[in-house]
Amino acid sequence: MTVTRKHFWYVVATSDELTRTAVLGRKVLDEWLVVFRGKDGRAAVLRDRCMHRHAPLSKGALVDGTVQCSYHGWRYDSDGVVVGVPAEGARFKQTKRRCAKTFTTREQDGFVYVRLADDGPQDIEPFAMPFWGDPNWRHIRLVNTFANNVTNCAENFIDVPHTVFVHPGIFRTSAGQKITADIRRHGATVDVHYYGETSNLGWFKRFLNPDDAAIGHRDSFHAPNVTEVEYVFGPKRRMFIISQSVPEEDMRTRVYTTLSYDFGRFSRSRVLDAFTKRILRFQGQAVIDQDLDALAEQGEVIDKYGVDFNNTSADAIHVLVESLQQAIADGTDPRTLPEKKAQIEFVI
Ligand code: FES
Ligand SMILES: [Fe+2]
Repeated sequence: MTVTRKHFWYVVATSDELTRTAVLGRKVLDEWLVVFRGKDGRAAVLRDRCMHRHAPLSKGALVDGTVQCSYHGWRYDSDGVVVGVPAEGARFKQTKRRCAKTFTTREQDGFVYVRLADDGPQDIEPFAMPFWGDPNWRHIRLVNTFANNVTNCAENFIDVPHTVFVHPGIFRTSAGQKITADIRRHGATVDVHYYGETSNLGWFKRFLNPDDAAIGHRDSFHAPNVTEVEYVFGPKRRMFIISQSVPEEDMRTRVYTTLSYDFGRFSRSRVLDAFTKRILRFQGQAVIDQDLDALAEQGEVIDKYGVDFNNTSADAIHVLVESLQQAIADGTDPRTLPEKKAQIEFVI
């Protein structure tokens, strides 16, 4: 069965932002979408084009669980059916012919997802967010738009060598440190287990790893668009950074970053956790701001000269990421690729 990028699930909103009055305009894979909650509270996604004279529905308002077009007031329910045309008054009759294009949605782990095509494998699920709903875990969400494609964004989010150049001091500082990693492609996933990382986290270390505990670090890429970074600092602190990269257009990617953490007594206490949340939010956004610039600059060069990358041993991870993306571009289900394993070594 052919698999394309349209067969995967993409975040179009957080559950919080889809309030009872919200009408959101979104783009996914060049498709323009309007997102809202229908009468029954379920998330609905329609093509963002009124059937009448093609005003964008996302400029409209939510009236009694229906979207009302801002131009002449046609109203659409969550199945895309036109349920009201003011100019027709009492003569209005609902017909099947007046129905906007709709897309399948799913709400899970505080996210609203859309799938643009339903004719692919039915066992592709949205990424399951770790520890969502677990009372000991806290979550912070950040949303940013990158001027680059999904693959380059995802590669950046699990790229260790860039951190000493793009985030010096904040995140890591160059120390000529040798890092070893086991990498494995299995199914639609690339897993990376790092060894030999010591506490090299700039000033942030005092907060994240005050006892200088051994660091466990694992990164994963889940094709086509999710990266998962996990850090374990000793027995008491564990953190995930999950980035869901949503392709709006070829070189425009909306990224939902979730920082999930269990810092033991720090996250159990309300006062300490309020402080932790502020630091993590501030620090997380500061790191992302630096990547936004780096990826925008890379994107401009790629727009001008195209892609002809050169690889080092550390880039073996990206080569595997690109092999999964290439499979999808070729119409192949990435889960059917054979397993691959390697060990890499590099210096940061
Ligand atoms: S364009 Fe939407 S009601 Fe006329
Ligand atoms: Fe970065």
